[in-house]
Amino acid sequence: MPPRTAAHAPSSVPTFAARVVAWQRVHGRHGLPWQQTRDAYRIWLSEVMLQQTQVTTVVPYFERFIARFPDVRALAAAPLDDVLAAWAGLGYYRRAHHLHAAAQAVARDHGGEFPTDATTLATLPGIGRSTAAAIAAFASGERGAILDGNVKRVLARHAGIDGWPGEPRVEKRLWDAAEARVPDHDIEAYTQGMMDLGALVCTRTDAKCLVCPVTDDCIARHEDRVDALPAPRPRKALPQRAVQLLVVERAGAVLLERRPAQGIWSGLWSLPEFAMEASPVDACVARFGVAPAACEPLPPIAHAFTHFALTMHPWRVRLAAGIADAASPATTWLTREDARGAALPAPIKRLLDATLV
Ligand code: ADE
Repeated sequence: MPPRTAAHAPSSVPTFAARVVAWQRVHGRHGLPWQQTRDAYRIWLSEVMLQQTQVTTVVPYFERFIARFPDVRALAAAPLDDVLAAWAGLGYYRRAHHLHAAAQAVARDHGGEFPTDATTLATLPGIGRSTAAAIAAFASGERGAILDGNVKRVLARHAGIDGWPGEPRVEKRLWDAAEARVPDHDIEAYTQGMMDLGALVCTRTDAKCLVCPVTDDCIARHEDRVDALPAPRPRKALPQRAVQLLVVERAGAVLLERRPAQGIWSGLWSLPEFAMEASPVDACVARFGVAPAACEPLPPIAHAFTHFALTMHPWRVRLAAGIADAASPATTWLTREDARGAALPAPIKRLLDATLV
């Protein structure tokens, strides 16, 4: 078979959606806790959780979150700290800040009624064009294109779109391909079908083209470029950063500090940090006015953020009794039990679980 290119592929776009819809009805996902509802609050919450996190991780968080904050008014009225605690471990905490801000905007500006049209949804914090269209499709059957990471992969392959999708020129072509395929009806099954196809069949590695409903006219498949599309981000090595941490214990509790509003882990409780240049003795003198009675290095922890890689070097320190009072509101003492349910970054939670008795 001669290779097909976008220019001379037969126009299959008109039947694309019908094939995705028929496939979704039989092979797609149906039993997820945010499906079979038109409740825009639940749909929104699930879509925000699913923006950067896989379904299997999201399900228990979603259920706990809904039990804790059953509607948008409850979420809007909750302290940010409670929202961050319910989010802790899902990562990308900006989403939790946006979630809280969006709930407050809905309570304030929309009388507590969650909007269901994409135009209004897109005015809320943390809801971009694709998420707005997905929520509108599921909550009200509104017709619109979505373009999340999974869908970008399906379309880059099916339409044979070269280049890294993070480039505006490439993203524009992907949106055009997404718009061209949106059906006039069955938008819910189509939208879910595109997500499911990307997650279950058109996977990044090991795509299952033999069971794909749109394989016949997939340009990547015809050109044997499934593994090459979409093109990866041009790689720059992640900048490396390192910090040291203090694990200060007192009567079975550990000293935590609230992270500043800006930067990583904003608003979460974490261990006191100090620069690589300083010694843990210097750090204790600077903070507590005394050198530690004992000081022991713990194994380093590596954690990759989107824009840099961080290595944390923790020190377990013991201070002479009565010295380390946490006077400021930005510090607190938590037991290992308390720390489990608190708004702590996942790597810090793991460290405390492994360290504290
Ligand atoms: N990823 C983003 N939204 C999703 C959804 N509604 N179902 C499954 N995976 C998703």
